[in-house]
Amino acid sequence: MLFKKSKTLLGLNIGSGSIKMVEFKDTGSVYTLNNFGMAVLPPDVIVDGTIMDSGAIVNAINSLAANLKIKKKRICTSVAGHSVIIKKATLPKVDESTIELTIQQEATQHIPYDINDVNLDFQILGPCPDNPEQMEIILVAVKRETINDYLGIVEEAGFVPVVVDVDTFALSNTYEYNYETENSSEVTALVDIGANLTNINILDKGVTGFSRNITFGSRLITEHLQKKFSLSYDHAEALKHGCPANSRVSQVAALAAISESAFSLANEIDKAIEFFHNSAVTEGRVEKIVLSGGGAKTPGIAQLIKQNAGIDTEIINPFRNIIIPEKNFDQEYIREIAPLAAVATGLALRSDEAVRR
Ligand SMILES: Nc1ncnc2c1ncn2[C@@H]1O[C@H](COP(=O)(O)OP(=O)(O)OP(=O)(O)O)[C@@H](O)[C@H]1O
Ligand SMILES: [Mg+2]
Repeated sequence: MLFKKSKTLLGLNIGSGSIKMVEFKDTGSVYTLNNFGMAVLPPDVIVDGTIMDSGAIVNAINSLAANLKIKKKRICTSVAGHSVIIKKATLPKVDESTIELTIQQEATQHIPYDINDVNLDFQILGPCPDNPEQMEIILVAVKRETINDYLGIVEEAGFVPVVVDVDTFALSNTYEYNYETENSSEVTALVDIGANLTNINILDKGVTGFSRNITFGSRLITEHLQKKFSLSYDHAEALKHGCPANSRVSQVAALAAISESAFSLANEIDKAIEFFHNSAVTEGRVEKIVLSGGGAKTPGIAQLIKQNAGIDTEIINPFRNIIIPEKNFDQEYIREIAPLAAVATGLALRSDEAVRR
């Protein structure tokens, strides 16, 4: 029992398209999936990263937890979007006693919000490679109002929010756990294509070197199909998922329309990677793009991004190093849905270090 792993938290990813829950078993020396489920949210519940209808989210969490027979109460959830700023910065070397103050001052230059309205966190990466008098840090600022909104929802649903993480870091957690990057010098772009948001996180030797939000996601494709073929939202969604909406729209026409708007996404991803390549702080080149989120399921998107950027592109498997008991899960379903579970998996991997009785 001495070496027993610490208990994990229930991972809850409140996305604007759907909520996802991932839970691991707290026994054994490797992680085993105990529960996974998702519930689609109507399009007007979270708009531009702002919660418009918290009651609908609370209800969705409660019915999902009931369906899955979730017992855990202690949750790790996350926030994303414009409320989250992640920036790499350089600072003059300071000693530990003044670092907090220096970082506060530095943050005011990098964070577009009042510093009193954000929760500020940082990680020291080490001395600057080209100037040992300076050090590199990663600044993370999250709007307090957003954190409070998410805390409120989790509590109202009857759960205990233990950790409020950031999607970007949950995702890199999932990637590191499954792809063992700790000693790797590879530069990898993790690209999460959600319903309304695309997040690019470039990992340079396992650490965030650059992070950027693109303010649209896979719903852009749905809206394009709606306009192009005069379809309802539900029909356009179905068409995007590969189900014929009606006899008027051929498969070929649908695929062509999908790649038209997927192309604008691919272009934005390319621009962000180019920006990283052109920035003075690094010499590393992105060697691999790893896609996650429901948008990664868009027909042909991995190929499109690969061609556009000229970089190998694959879709993440967040359960690569996780045991999925055959008797409890439909393996085919898990495979289909896996990219959507990437953030929730990273959240569920967080251990519950708080003292329990
Ligand atoms: N099989 C599929 N084929 C095509 N698109 C899909 C498929 N499954 C899901 N999607 C799309 O993925 C999107 C949802 O992805 P995801 O669950 O990652 O988003 P989210 O986390 O809820 O949103 P966000 O992160 O932007 O707030 C939706 O736009 C949905 O239409
Ligand atoms: Mg998401």
